[in-house]
Amino acid sequence: MIMNNASDDIYKKKLGARILSEANDLKRNIQALAADLGMDEELVQRAVNGEESLEVQYSIVEKMGETYPIDHTDMYIPVDDCTDGVKIMRAEESKRSSRVFNRKNSRGAPTPFYEYRDTAMSVHSPFRPEWIKELRVVDDDDPENPDVVYNKGHFMHQLTFFIGPVNFYYDVFGKKACAQMNTGDSNYITPFHPHTFTSRDTEQDAIIIAVTFGGDVRQSQKELYALGEKGERFVLDVRNPRRAQAQRIEQCMQAANISKECLQGQGINPDEVLGGGELLGADTLAKLAELLRVDPVELRIPAYREEEEVVVRYGSKESGYLYPSEQESVYRIFPLAQTYKLPFVRGFRYHVMTDQRTGAAVLEHQLHSYLYNYGDIPIMLHWNNGDEWYAECIEPNDSAYVQPFTKYAFTNTEGEGSLIEIRIPGKVGSATIRELSTFADPARAIKETTCWYDQK
Ligand SMILES: [Fe+2]
Repeated sequence: MIMNNASDDIYKKKLGARILSEANDLKRNIQALAADLGMDEELVQRAVNGEESLEVQYSIVEKMGETYPIDHTDMYIPVDDCTDGVKIMRAEESKRSSRVFNRKNSRGAPTPFYEYRDTAMSVHSPFRPEWIKELRVVDDDDPENPDVVYNKGHFMHQLTFFIGPVNFYYDVFGKKACAQMNTGDSNYITPFHPHTFTSRDTEQDAIIIAVTFGGDVRQSQKELYALGEKGERFVLDVRNPRRAQAQRIEQCMQAANISKECLQGQGINPDEVLGGGELLGADTLAKLAELLRVDPVELRIPAYREEEEVVVRYGSKESGYLYPSEQESVYRIFPLAQTYKLPFVRGFRYHVMTDQRTGAAVLEHQLHSYLYNYGDIPIMLHWNNGDEWYAECIEPNDSAYVQPFTKYAFTNTEGEGSLIEIRIPGKVGSATIRELSTFADPARAIKETTCWYDQK
């Protein structure tokens, strides 16, 4: 059960609207809903209006789960744990979450390998960012060094920022490699590729900020688990693009009840489109797409980029760019590792060149933002969630979360400072944005306010 502040009227109105939306989907007006649940109609109406206690609202949600074939857990809306769109985690609080885990060394003895600390995250944030100190020190960059213990890979994508002399090891389908990283460098790791990190120096701190996050697959996890092995049939062989294209065409044909014979009847050779060889040309794709009544983009398979299984970016050797322009520069920005697979996952390192919150310094976008001060001096974070501007000092090792569409800006204090930001899309991905935008009244998809028909 998600805990909420009972006095939160805004939250109760949202949950009431969500109940109304679900009832509309089930084609139940309030009277029919109350009758089905064996509850008083006026009580249900007040709960939908957000005028009853959370306990009453929750009991309606639970009863709906018992009464209808729905996944009622989807109706719970996590409470907003941010203050005006921002949540800050101080270095001290991070330190208190410290855990040290052992892994075996070359002699088989379990010795400290990592110290983990939590950093800023919110109930709404799609990321789980950890501060991780490398405690195993090595004196070479041999990926087969027996002191180097790889993990098994994990479900979440990972974007990592490096601080100090860190060795990064990765294993892509049995091929191991080591990259010597330094402050300012970064990487991206595709889910389930084994990887690990060590220190190259007993005298210096070797730290990573490991931002793990779930993409669209994370949003679909419930259904994939429910489907079990059948879920594997969604998977395209993207490392073999021609085969992936044939699989995708077949998926679309099956969904549309279009047989090979139908293709043939329309002058398309099924052996050609479902066979091997070269990727299909634009003309064939357009013809197929028309027959299947899908946008051609559905049948297009992105080029396979082997170098993006794991991306290593030596940002420490880059000079960055001035934002927004050379003439009016408020930030020097150094982009972190990127992948075409996740075009809206963006990381940056900032040097803050202004002490004024000018319009040029203000950032605003649709992504969830994670901030971490990896330097020695504070940086001011300003944000605006309506009319008013707020400001907090982000001290060294402090971190923060900023909600989508919150305006924010950085100003410097004693110097340009050292700040990283990692931006991740939430549950509202590209496909959702496109679909929502086609609705006749998108606002009602965000907060349902009415029965689906006029009851007067
Ligand atoms: Fe990891």
